[in-house]
Amino acid sequence: MNRTRCDHTPAWAALQNQFASSGPVFDLRAAFATDAQRHQRLSQQAPYVFADLSKNLIDVATQALLFELAQQTGLPAHIEAMFAGEKINTTEQRAVLHTLLRKPAPAPVQQAQDASDSIAFKLSQVHATLQPMLAYAQAVRADAGITDVVNIGIGGSDLGPQMALLALDEFALPGKRFHFVSNVDGHELAAVLRKIQPESTLFLIASKTFTTIETMTNAHSAKAWFEAQGGTDIARHFAALTTNVVAANAFGISTTFGFWDWVGGRYSVWSAIGLPLAIAIGAQGFTDFLAGAHAMDEHFRTAELEQNLPVRLGLLDLWYRNFHGFTSRSVAPYHSALKRYPAYLQQLEMESNGKRVDADGVALPFGTAPVIWGEPGTNGQHAYFQMLHQGTDVVPVEFVAVKNPRHDLPGHHNLLLANVLAQAQALMLGKVDVGGHKHFTGNRPSTFLLLDELSPASLGALIALQEHRVFVSGSLWGINSFDQWGVELGKVLAKDVEARLGSGDISGLDASTAGLLARLRN
Ligand code: F6P
Repeated sequence: MNRTRCDHTPAWAALQNQFASSGPVFDLRAAFATDAQRHQRLSQQAPYVFADLSKNLIDVATQALLFELAQQTGLPAHIEAMFAGEKINTTEQRAVLHTLLRKPAPAPVQQAQDASDSIAFKLSQVHATLQPMLAYAQAVRADAGITDVVNIGIGGSDLGPQMALLALDEFALPGKRFHFVSNVDGHELAAVLRKIQPESTLFLIASKTFTTIETMTNAHSAKAWFEAQGGTDIARHFAALTTNVVAANAFGISTTFGFWDWVGGRYSVWSAIGLPLAIAIGAQGFTDFLAGAHAMDEHFRTAELEQNLPVRLGLLDLWYRNFHGFTSRSVAPYHSALKRYPAYLQQLEMESNGKRVDADGVALPFGTAPVIWGEPGTNGQHAYFQMLHQGTDVVPVEFVAVKNPRHDLPGHHNLLLANVLAQAQALMLGKVDVGGHKHFTGNRPSTFLLLDELSPASLGALIALQEHRVFVSGSLWGINSFDQWGVELGKVLAKDVEARLGSGDISGLDASTAGLLARLRN
């Protein structure tokens, strides 16, 4: 398919002129003062998510140019290509079809007879895998003998289920404890092993490739511990969530739930990788999670660019990164259960769009993924918000708030909501103080995402929204958002260094690594 890189379009040049004439002097307070409709114009309801973009450094004219840019890069065709299962992950020759994982089954479930590359066949595979996985989740829920579920996985095989499980803790079955072991640092696994008993534990070995060194090391140690404690029934106490069922079988695990190479690791919470979540919130909860995401998929696939929330967010990301030159975005979920949401978004955005070349391998003359960071509010206010308000760098903030709480402690929720509104207000309005130290420049941008409640469906929609906005900015930048070659070099070097830590061989090493290695061996 034909894609045109953003900087090769006429709209890019027009945006440069637009920025030169109004970007640096744009003032949010003046923008609101001169346009009574600004909030309405720059906000919208998408499935489960209301978004107020009006406190951003854009106006209707800039937004119009951004929509032109999206058209001129071929974004609509690229979106279609993704949903159609074209191999848009060109460096790995793979389709990108995490959206298919949340597509409802056609009724009755078709056993597609056509080619294994077709969407219909893949969808039938999705449902033929989802049903047994949900049945297994229900069986584990009903099994009082299993009190602890330990997920061993890293990156997308850890962050997605962990983030979602924490977020949906209110919906989780009481009586089962969930543990996540990702780090190769043995302290992490050892701390979990101290708390569990082999006869009441289910280990889920989550790895798309079933080769990731951290996960394999932890899985081997968990299995060795289980056997050393007298455990024998591996089929009951170990299950593998992987595309590499052969390797899982060779490891000795016969209970497996599969997925496919067209599901990227950081997009895999919707697949078998979501099993811990399905155990926690049940088959219905997991189905609702998928349905929320599917509603956002349909919005992204069908809404006009002007009313397409992932498109609007992705365009704003480009405007900030490439015109304003902002290098980071702070995410501030005002819900304590969203504590791993920033970490999840970090992988999603930075592993997807942290690229320095375009899809043809040509070095890019502009910046790509911003740094994503943050903590739940109000905690962040008492840590780094000082810098957001008065630091030398402008950092756009993306708030998430939830209208209805699921607790009945008086006063708390109003106070929480008052704080998130006040922070967005303070960033924008600032405060004049001639003394200097108490002066707030204001005019600092923020986006406000609002959910009615934090539920499986709304979380699904929120995460799908984030996936698609990352797709949009990556598409505009002309990059392949679906590979991650940048993690390979460190893996290769770690193998070499591991051998040297054993042998003491420092030949050919740089002086710093050699010096540190010698110190570690002393
Ligand atoms: O960090 C690289 C990466 O490949 C991620 O993309 C992925 O989520 C993670 O490692 C884990 O990979 P796997 O699921 O294959 O163990």
